Amino acid sequence: MNPRWLLAALFRASPALIAFVVLAWAGDLDPGVAAVAAILALLALVLLAAPIYIGLARIRNAIDAMAEDDAARPEVESASPAIRDLWLAVMRWARAARAKAQAREMEIDTAQLVLRNLPDPILVLDDARRIARTNEAADALLGPNLVERDLAGALRQPALLAAADAVLRGEGDRLVEFDLANPVERHFIARIVPLLPVRADGSAVIILHDVTVLKRSERLRADFAANASHELRTPLASLIGFIETLRGPARDDIDAHDRFLAIMAEQSGRMARLVEDLLSLAKIEMNEHQTPTDRVDVADLLSRVARGLDQRATGRDMTIRIDAAADLPPALGDPDELAQVFQNLIDNAIKYARAGTAITVKVSPSAKRPATLAVAIADQGEGIPREHVARLTERFYRVDTARSRELGGTGLGLAIVKHIVNHHRGLLEIDSDLGKGSTFTVHLPVAPVTTPAPA
Ligand SMILES: Nc1ncnc2c1ncn2[C@@H]1O[C@H](COP(=O)(O)OP(=O)(O)OP(=O)(O)O)[C@@H](O)[C@H]1O
Ligand SMILES: [Mg+2]
Repeated sequence: MNPRWLLAALFRASPALIAFVVLAWAGDLDPGVAAVAAILALLALVLLAAPIYIGLARIRNAIDAMAEDDAARPEVESASPAIRDLWLAVMRWARAARAKAQAREMEIDTAQLVLRNLPDPILVLDDARRIARTNEAADALLGPNLVERDLAGALRQPALLAAADAVLRGEGDRLVEFDLANPVERHFIARIVPLLPVRADGSAVIILHDVTVLKRSERLRADFAANASHELRTPLASLIGFIETLRGPARDDIDAHDRFLAIMAEQSGRMARLVEDLLSLAKIEMNEHQTPTDRVDVADLLSRVARGLDQRATGRDMTIRIDAAADLPPALGDPDELAQVFQNLIDNAIKYARAGTAITVKVSPSAKRPATLAVAIADQGEGIPREHVARLTERFYRVDTARSRELGGTGLGLAIVKHIVNHHRGLLEIDSDLGKGSTFTVHLPVAPVTTPAPA
């Protein structure tokens, strides 16, 4: 028998034992009887207490086992109904605690997963402005091993550091904008929020939001509006000037009327072309998400476009030669948009290549991309300096603005070409050899083969 149980039984039985000793001492009870009664009382207590103590010891062992191993599911058996009841209550509590812990763990896992996969870089700071945690986007942006470093070691941005200090001093949220120059210029908005409700040690979290694309498109939009108004203002100013002259000093000069009206017609034609091109761009952009579905015979379309430009080519003593492979599959596209692409590219070749040379238009299955047709328009001009090639498809971008204007160009042709090619999920390639000429190649997807309906 466990000596602790004997001691406990002795302790519990002590009032009865004392009573027997007092009664025997007072002579009211025979000492022999008192001794037997005391032993019997002790025995009865030991027998009654034993299952309870054994049960309690088993419960304690079972709780220890569960504390050590979360997966342990020990059984406790006991002769005592009170112990069995207590064990059931312990099990109910353990089940509830386990369920709560699981729910909490799941919440933490979810929060960590979300944090890890958020596209915005996130840095958690401790109260000494050291980085305590990062997510993958932060590591990708600022490099690995950021943890434990001072924020200044990761982002040397005075405004950001000052704002982080203010937040850590308990001065509330802060928003800061800053630029990173390397490896490419990027613009960020940082939101710094104290973690005070969750942690009392004054730490904070920094959420970086990359607004480079937004800034760039804002700038592009502003540039575009400025360029478009500038392009319109020039012919408009000329028209206003001539109208004033015709109403004033040249009112009665009939010869001047004809000359001025011819210039005015040309200037208004330029404005009309510009507006038409701007509308065309807007329309293509609006439909860009819907891929065209017509089957287009590209060789046939090219012949029609070339016929339309033949007179202009002849005017510069140039020829347009179409070289189409036999049995070409149709392209998947929008015939009007594709006509606009070829019209622009052949028109550029006529305008910018040397007079008296040939323009070749070659259509063949693309060697680079499967199920694609390649239309290459090659001229024998001066070529385009390398530094301009990448920017040619920007709106209003010209290599020689004065020359383009003189030739009636708006500088929107290649921007329209690029948008249409993108709309077709195609590709535009520009190759140019200075002094030799340029080749603009359009890759277009081939239309899927249709099986004829059964007769
Ligand atoms: N085949 C080419 N050879 C040499 N330079 C070219 C050629 N095609 C285009 N360029 C250059 O690219 C610039 C942009 O061409 P784009 O077609 O966008 O405008 P544009 O021809 O000037 O005007 P638009 O097409 O609106 O009449 C031209 O101004 C020209 O400098
Ligand atoms: Mg053009």
